[in-house]
Order: sequence, then C-alpha cells, then structure tokens
Amino acid sequence: MEMNEVSNTNQMPREEGIDHSLSLMREGYMYIMNRRHSFNSNIFKTRLFGKKAICIGGKEAAEVFYDTEKFKRKDAAPNRAVQTLFGKNGVQALDGQNHKHRKEMFMSIMSPDELEKLTDITKNQWEMAVDKWEQMDKVVLYEEVQEIMCRTACQWAGVPVQEDEVKKLTKDLVAMFESPATVGPAHWLGRNARNRVEKWIGELINEVRDGKVNPPENTALHRFAWHRDLEGNHLDTETTAVEVINILRPIVAIAIFINFTALAVHHYPEEREKLETGDEKYAQMFVQEVRRFYPFFPFVVALVKKDFTWNSYKFEEGTLTLLDLYGTNHDPEIWDNPDEFSPDRFAEWEGSPFSFIPQGGGDYFMGHRCAGEWVTIEVMKVSLDYLANRMNYEVPDQDLSFSMVSIPSIPHSKVVIKNVKRRI
Ligand code: HEM
Repeated sequence: MEMNEVSNTNQMPREEGIDHSLSLMREGYMYIMNRRHSFNSNIFKTRLFGKKAICIGGKEAAEVFYDTEKFKRKDAAPNRAVQTLFGKNGVQALDGQNHKHRKEMFMSIMSPDELEKLTDITKNQWEMAVDKWEQMDKVVLYEEVQEIMCRTACQWAGVPVQEDEVKKLTKDLVAMFESPATVGPAHWLGRNARNRVEKWIGELINEVRDGKVNPPENTALHRFAWHRDLEGNHLDTETTAVEVINILRPIVAIAIFINFTALAVHHYPEEREKLETGDEKYAQMFVQEVRRFYPFFPFVVALVKKDFTWNSYKFEEGTLTLLDLYGTNHDPEIWDNPDEFSPDRFAEWEGSPFSFIPQGGGDYFMGHRCAGEWVTIEVMKVSLDYLANRMNYEVPDQDLSFSMVSIPSIPHSKVVIKNVKRRI
C-alpha cells in the first residue's frame, strides 16, 4: 500500500497522495491512530484540507504540541470549524500575550465559588427534569439533557432567556457543535445557528453596556461585557458575543459526555454498584474514565510557529499539525488495556497534563487547554449521581452502538429510558 511507503528525503513516514481529507472523514476518530499503527510511528506526514500536514500522537507529542514557542493558533483552524464551532476572533485563535490576557478572562469565572454555584444550578435543573420525566412515556436522554444543560448554562452565565425561547436556543447551540464535520444542509444549519445566536447575544451585550440589563457580577455575561483588552478597550460586540457563546455552547455539549455516562452506567453494572456508596472519589474516577474512554474531540490543530527539529524530524514554519487526542487517550504506551472501561485505573493515577487529554493538554493559563474542564467534571459528577443513584428507570431494547467515524459521536438511539421514578 502506498500508505506504507517511507520517504527517505525527510525521514518522516509519509502518506502519499494529493489529499486525505476524505480518509479523515471516513475513518474519523481512528484516522490518526490507524496510521500511527501502520507506520509504527507517533508522527507522519500527509495532506489534509488541501495543505501539507503533520499528525502526531502520544505523551511526548502532546508536550511538544503545547510548547507555545513552537506552535501558534492564528489561522490554524479550518474555516468550516470557525464558521460553526468557534466563531471569529475568539480565544482559540489568539497567541502570546493576547491569548494569555483573554484566557485569564475565562479562567476568572472558574473559581471554586463559581463552580459551586454551577453545581447547585445543575442539581436544581436535574430535580425539575426528573419531575417532568416521571410523567413521560419515554425520555430521549440526549435531547432532554441538552435542554437541562442549556438552562444551566444560561443561568450560570447570567444570560436571561425567555421560557418560550429555550428549545430554539438549545437547538441552535447544539447545531454549532454537531455541524463542523458535516456537509450540506447539516453544515449550513450550524452556520445559520451561529449567526442567529451571535446577533442575539450581541444585542444583549449592548444592553448590558447601556445599563438596561444587569447580570450578576462574576457571571460570564458581566465579566466579558466589561473586560478590557491589553490596550484598555472593551472587546467589540461581535468578539464578546463569540466568547459568551464559548461558555454556553460547550456547556450544552457536555450532554454528549452525559449520554456516554448513561451508557457506561448501563453497560458496566459492576462499576455502577461501586457508585452506590456515594463515594466522591469513585464518582470522580468514573467520570475521568468516561472522558478517556469514549470518543468526543478527535484532535486539535496548530501551525508550526518557526522551523524546529523534534526527535530528528524537521517541522517547517507554517505546517498544519494535528495532535491526536482520542488516540493519546487510548495509547497502549500510556494506558494498560486502553480499550477496557475501568475507572479503577484512575485510583493511583499520578496525573500528567500530557497523557490524559480529552479536553486538550498542557497549562490552562499559558496554553489552549480547555477552559471548561473543571466545569465539565463537576457537571458530569452531578449528572452521574442522578443516573446511577437518584432515579430508577428502564433501558428498553435499542441501538446503543456509537460510530467511530461521525464527529461528534453519539449513541445511535440517543439513549432512550422509560418508567423514570425518583428514588426515595
Ligand atoms: C463538553 C466537553 C468538552 C470537551 C470535549 C472540550 C474540549 C476542548 C478542547 C479539545 C479544546 C481545545 C484544546 C486546544 O486547543 O489545545 C477546548 C478548548 C476550549 N474549551 Fe472546551 N471542552 C469541553 C467543555 C467545555 C466547557 C464546559 C467550556 C466552558 C464552560 C469550554 C470552554 C473552552 C474554551 C474557552 C476553550 C478555548 C481555550 C483556549 O483556546 O485557550 N469547554 N475544549
């Protein structure tokens, strides 16, 4: 196979051919891992999105990828992701001091006090949802949890939303993260959704600045509306809206991990039993294993900032580079039996910011690691408690399988549950 040819000129294993974007779409989460296996190498060259690209995976690769002297983010993300998932001029595309300053704005709302407020809001939303579900014939968990998370996100972020707008807003925020890797109408759904929500949040930001709307201090809406950049200016309305959406959208996306949490609770009853003691440490281990085991974010992208050599491989300025997140979380050099679901592996885990990277790696403040990782973990722990301990329900026959190709992957049935009863 031409894929296995090794180019002697640059020593890096190389996938021959004009462009492999189609293989990436066909192989999804497995694209980089498949080639890391067949080349027996944690690095290879290819062509993606019409450009030269380098793919890397594993702990050492994550270390180099998060070295901000070596990689930059400006203009790295494909346009289709910018138009749907990220938005323009957001924190994801900043480098250096500008990035550091903007990231501090995000991290300023991630304090223990604010996380506690978020936990309370999430519990409250689950309580109301269980009341509602007790009256329903069947519950499509993925869709219901999206709404729980949309309400939670808006309340926590200080974004007022009318009751009759919740469903529409939920759909729009979901379209933003479901659409980047799709083509045709599904992709345009994401673009239109982004335009609509950016406009609405933009108007809200102007009202905050005009004193007509007063969100509580420390909420994202308040902090971001009044944030000043390094020159002392407020962010323009569009950029502020993009950043507020950078809080709302991914909180709704936690619905994906919560769906996989429900799947794990169902598929691994012996692990579920261990949760019954209410031991916080075990809940944390379970949540960590869900984030490691199930597919969500396949890879992250950056551009080589200036020429450098790593492990005798030459990286040329401007080269698109993909870091394999899914494959690193399933790397047999890092994890024993990586394809087994085993929360216990986290009991003695020493922790490394480069080996367990479902939401990116490295440092939160200095690099691009996900600003919402603590939020995700806390929300998942509350949700796990409801799914494992606080309600009884049946999981009727359905297709619970999930694709390793569609990004993001969601169990085909979206997890249907029946006869929901609150546990007393
Ligand atoms: C739902 C589960 C989530 C997953 C799988 C996830 C994953 C990621 C990944 C892979 C990155 C990029 C890391 C990189 O570029 O190196 C990222 C960045 C980011 N995430 Fe998350 N995330 C999640 C939830 C959240 C939540 C709940 C929030 C906010 C409350 C959030 C806010 C952000 C922000 C602001 C960035 C950009 C950080 C930067 O560029 O410096 N994410 N996330």
